[in-house]
Amino acid sequence: MPDYRTVRGMRDFLPEKAETMKYIEGKARKVAQLYGYREIITPVLETYKLLAAKTGEEIRKRMYTFKDLGGRKVALRPEFTASVARLVANTLKAEPKPLRLFCVGSLYRYDEPQQGRFREFWQSNYELMGATQPEADVETVMLTNRFLKDVGLKNFTFKMGHVGILTGILSQEGIEEDVQNKVMHFMDKKQVNKALKLVEDTEATEKCLKTLRKLVETQEENPLKACQKIKKEARGYKKAVKAVNNLQKILKLLSESEEKIEITVDPAFARGLEYYTGIIFEVYVPQLDIALGGGGRYNKLIETFGGEPTPAIGVAHGIDRIMLAMQKQKTPLKKEKKKTAAVIPIQDKMKEEALKISQMLRNAGIPAKLQVMDRNLTNSLADANRREIDYAIIVGERELKEESVAIRNLKKREQKTVKIDNIVKTIKNKE
Ligand code: HAM
Repeated sequence: MPDYRTVRGMRDFLPEKAETMKYIEGKARKVAQLYGYREIITPVLETYKLLAAKTGEEIRKRMYTFKDLGGRKVALRPEFTASVARLVANTLKAEPKPLRLFCVGSLYRYDEPQQGRFREFWQSNYELMGATQPEADVETVMLTNRFLKDVGLKNFTFKMGHVGILTGILSQEGIEEDVQNKVMHFMDKKQVNKALKLVEDTEATEKCLKTLRKLVETQEENPLKACQKIKKEARGYKKAVKAVNNLQKILKLLSESEEKIEITVDPAFARGLEYYTGIIFEVYVPQLDIALGGGGRYNKLIETFGGEPTPAIGVAHGIDRIMLAMQKQKTPLKKEKKKTAAVIPIQDKMKEEALKISQMLRNAGIPAKLQVMDRNLTNSLADANRREIDYAIIVGERELKEESVAIRNLKKREQKTVKIDNIVKTIKNKE
């Protein structure tokens, strides 16, 4: 027998899981509408050059990269941001700003499969292009808060930082951008000693190393107080202080909002992507140690792709991880439950009428399954019960003569004869 299993790291979603995924996706789309983000659909396959440009070493190494039959070096998208930035740099160049764009779909990273980490996963992604104002940064945090609340999650917290704190210090010390990226990469992986060793190997001053060590050790629960502490540690590094001021403004606006949003500030926080220039954040629930979503400001990416200088901020939520968090928190799906019907013709000659009745039910918005296996009545009813269908519409010869059918309420085990014209009314009145 040939081996026809899924490829390692790829998963099938059976109906129940697929339904939950679509439910979460629906909530994400609703939030997009509420905040004025218009949905776009971009290709799963992009040029390697685009996806590799500023994505960061970690993701670049893990891309599914190959040559297509035309010899082009292509890759499966590991995230949406590069594709959206490409669009804004080219096709949407002349669109009035701010531009709010939403996308949802599958992404691919050759990560080691484990809880909450998959090689094919789904994101809902929001990008806000054209604004530098802190209100724009606040919006991405607020919509994330709204989305997670809407799916029913509780006790989530945001971890926040600003890449300008570390890069401000490193660039003032004259450290090259590629070394800075490596330092940030180690910081992201929580390999602080390796990050500091890299800095030590440069011409960096003792003051720089001392400041970095202090920052890594900074602990303060109150986000605004944390900013004060960081500012004190980073004094003398102009760009770093400017970055903290920006973070502080954003935190202040968030603290003044009606929403109670839990935030912790980490000055040594770094994310795996290289394009960030401003605040960065991730959101967590206590039941999982992996982020449900992450985002940040990236003011240079669109320029990198040949577009006009366009500041931007965005966030992406991991739909698979949100589903996992919902399982852990036992979050119920608030689904609209529609009454369903099974239409069962007793004999061959009733099939035509059964087909018409099924169609009539569907036209009225009642989900109807027609019995198509030539099962007898007993087996048909057993099958309908197994599938948790609410009503069996039994199309029999005697009833048909009077333009009627038998309707059996499968949950209550009650049966009555009803005129065909009244089937919809009978089912709907019971809803
Ligand atoms: P990211 O942090 O790489 O950011 O991914 C965002 C979210 O996608 C993560 O927090 C996580 O929930 C989910 N995710 C990432 N990798 C996996 C995986 N292997 N399996 C399951 N879920 C995963 C970005 O992708 C940026 N493009 C976000 C952004 C948008 N920044 C600005 N705009």
